Amino acid sequence: MNANVARNALWVMGLAVAGSAVQAQPPTDLGKREFDNNCAVCHATDGKGGGPYVDVLKRTPPDLTTMSKRNGGIFPMARAYEVIEGAGASHGTRDMPIWGQEYNIKAAEYYVDVNYNAQAYVRTRILALVEYLNRLQVK
Ligand code: HEC
Repeated sequence: MNANVARNALWVMGLAVAGSAVQAQPPTDLGKREFDNNCAVCHATDGKGGGPYVDVLKRTPPDLTTMSKRNGGIFPMARAYEVIEGAGASHGTRDMPIWGQEYNIKAAEYYVDVNYNAQAYVRTRILALVEYLNRLQVK
């Protein structure tokens, strides 16, 4: 084995090791990350409603882990999506931010120079949150 071949072999092994180190990390849980970053201040990280903002809210955030229980054992997926997106919720009495609008603004910032599809960005985040909420449900 000449020096070049040995160096190349070491380089490839290095890549393999670096690659496996990346793979060893658990994949990002997008729904949990979005929830912890955007929702936990009011709803708490466990979704039960005791977040640090509770004292300044007009309405107490509901326990998000009992959404299925309160709906005959079925997770109200469409309702969850609509509440998060904010559709029809602009009558001013809600304490819940309109996340569809938030994400639209974020999408525009994220894709600042390219022709982007804001709807894909917004829906991916809302669907990840809905899927995460479904996982938080108590039986
Ligand atoms: C500023 C505080 C606040 C933040 C931040 C917040 N919420 Fe809420 N949320 C509330 C309050 C208060 C209610 C109940 C009153 C209402 O509907 O406005 C609520 C209601 C809900 C409901 C309806 C639950 C039910 O049983 O009907 C869902 C679902 C929900 N929030 C999910 C989320 C998600 C997901 C996020 C993050 C993207 C989030 N919320 C961020 C305060 C908040």
